Amino acid sequence: MFLHLKNILTPEEVQTARALLGADAPWIDGRSSAGGQALTQKRNEQLAQDSAPSHELRALVLAALQRDALFFSAALPKKIFNPLFNRYSGESNFYGAHVDGAVLRSKAPEQWVRSDISCTLFLAGPEEYEGGELRIQDAHSERHVKLPAGDMVLYPSSTVHQVAPVTRGARIASFFWIESMVRSTEQRLLLWNMDMDLLKLRSRDGENDPAVVGLTGTYHNLLRMWADA
Ligand code: NI
Repeated sequence: MFLHLKNILTPEEVQTARALLGADAPWIDGRSSAGGQALTQKRNEQLAQDSAPSHELRALVLAALQRDALFFSAALPKKIFNPLFNRYSGESNFYGAHVDGAVLRSKAPEQWVRSDISCTLFLAGPEEYEGGELRIQDAHSERHVKLPAGDMVLYPSSTVHQVAPVTRGARIASFFWIESMVRSTEQRLLLWNMDMDLLKLRSRDGENDPAVVGLTGTYHNLLRMWADA
């Protein structure tokens, strides 16, 4: 599932995040957290995970995710990898084609997270930098993603993807992975589509319309069948 979720962060939260991610933030070489294949492909900077700004930013992003009903419906999160933060600028300005690891060690809390869904939450606006698109290979095409600050893209972790070189300015983002209660991308997509259509039916026919009640039950029974909570 490829999904663009708008306004995950408010403009004020983007400002707060950007203030914590300034030039004097504890940026370190992104290769410190890369394994094998990624080592030669990765040229960016990441915020040191054990730093105070990282703790504050993590909490800000997680709180924003928790209040977003669309995010919940789309991802059906079981575990969320502690959000990380990166910067592409100057000489450290790209991440070549790679796949994300299937199981990743999250630090807060310490746990293994299976990567079902990859998330990029943009913290710099598209006018602030040149290049830097997230390029995701689909079965037959390549999607180029560059979103307004505060918006987020969800995409299957199984895809080959890259961040194109940033040739002007700085691309700043948060990124993390989700282990979903519903492991199958197909099943998750069916549930998401059904939930979105149910929203429309509810607003048209009302919460208590018998067909709406019945279909809401079907949604939950499918979720019960497929979810591993
Ligand atoms: Ni990646």
